Amino acid sequence: MSIILGIETSCDECSASVLLHEGNSFRPLSVSTYSQIELHQPFGGVVPEVASRNHLEQIQPVIEDALKKAGVEVVNCDAIAVTNRPGLIGALLVGVTAAKALAYASRKPLIPVHHLEGHLMSAFLSSATGESKKIEFPAIFLMVSGGHTHLHYIEESPLQWPSEMLKTSLIGRSIDDAAGEAFDKTGKILGFPYPGGKWIDEYAQKGNRAAFELPRGLKQKDSYDFSFSGLKTAVLLLTKRLQAEGSIESKLPDLCASVQEAIIDPLIRKSLLLAREKKAKSLVVVGGVAANSRLRMRLKAESPIPVIYPDLQYCTDNAAMIAAAGAVRFSQGQGLRVEQFLKLNAFANAGS
Ligand code: KG4
Ligand code: ZN
Repeated sequence: MSIILGIETSCDECSASVLLHEGNSFRPLSVSTYSQIELHQPFGGVVPEVASRNHLEQIQPVIEDALKKAGVEVVNCDAIAVTNRPGLIGALLVGVTAAKALAYASRKPLIPVHHLEGHLMSAFLSSATGESKKIEFPAIFLMVSGGHTHLHYIEESPLQWPSEMLKTSLIGRSIDDAAGEAFDKTGKILGFPYPGGKWIDEYAQKGNRAAFELPRGLKQKDSYDFSFSGLKTAVLLLTKRLQAEGSIESKLPDLCASVQEAIIDPLIRKSLLLAREKKAKSLVVVGGVAANSRLRMRLKAESPIPVIYPDLQYCTDNAAMIAAAGAVRFSQGQGLRVEQFLKLNAFANAGS
């Protein structure tokens, strides 16, 4: 059994969490998250400098709140886990520096966590009722966040994951925009506030999905990669035409329904194709786009194998998933001692 304090500041959520890890159970005792969405909304997207400055203000209260809610002190924790890649460099540095200072002062091991490993681990967090998710392996993981669209084939449960698992299990990825980015960029073209995903989801419920024919990138059967940039251009041209005709307002639900279908179609088709090819026993969908109601409805109807989602609060960025990924690496003896972690850095890229 171990207690891990997790810290996440890679983008626009400042989050801390205390997690209890026991065998295959990853139970968040607390999660405290300060979302900067409203701060970035006037700019239509995340402004890196605004993000890092706000993390600086929020990091300490957020950590204190998470510890208080869990009823523990740092001394009761076995290790501190922090996202150190990939993300906005200034934002990452705030979390990494805070984690280093805490680990140094409390003489605890520090575990650097890859943000995407955190997203994969979000599926293993127990729900509010304390129940663990039942994921049978081999499994397909579809990771659809604001910044990444990855398709992974994973053969073993997290405690067996090798260090290089993110790389070795990766089967397909977006070659340009991520699915979440496609929602956000088309949402911006359609005049929705940032982030556009949930607005498109909402408006699409009253729209006709077949109203507009929009491109599906990389349709060829032998590719598990995705491409969404063509869609963005098509939506821009279509929106201009509808604006000129004066029909954009009335066509908005149809437009949203058509855009949403064009984004989720390849996600569903390729995930199910890979699941069949690999004889996977479950399909796991993680990241912010996993909240999409149409994606969930279609997978429920079309997937022959169980589809597992994290609880909604763990779909978007949060420190519980970082603590869980840290717990796995800690159980494998990968906690860094003080002389090792003082040199720890943050990296904007996903790593080579
Ligand atoms: O995982 P996340 O917090 O981002 C990163 O870690 O990068 O996910 C945020 C993304 C945004 O692109 C947002 O538009 C999208 O998730 N999103 C949705 C929905 N709710 C959030 N996309 C489609 N439908 C939704 N209901
Ligand atoms: Zn994320």
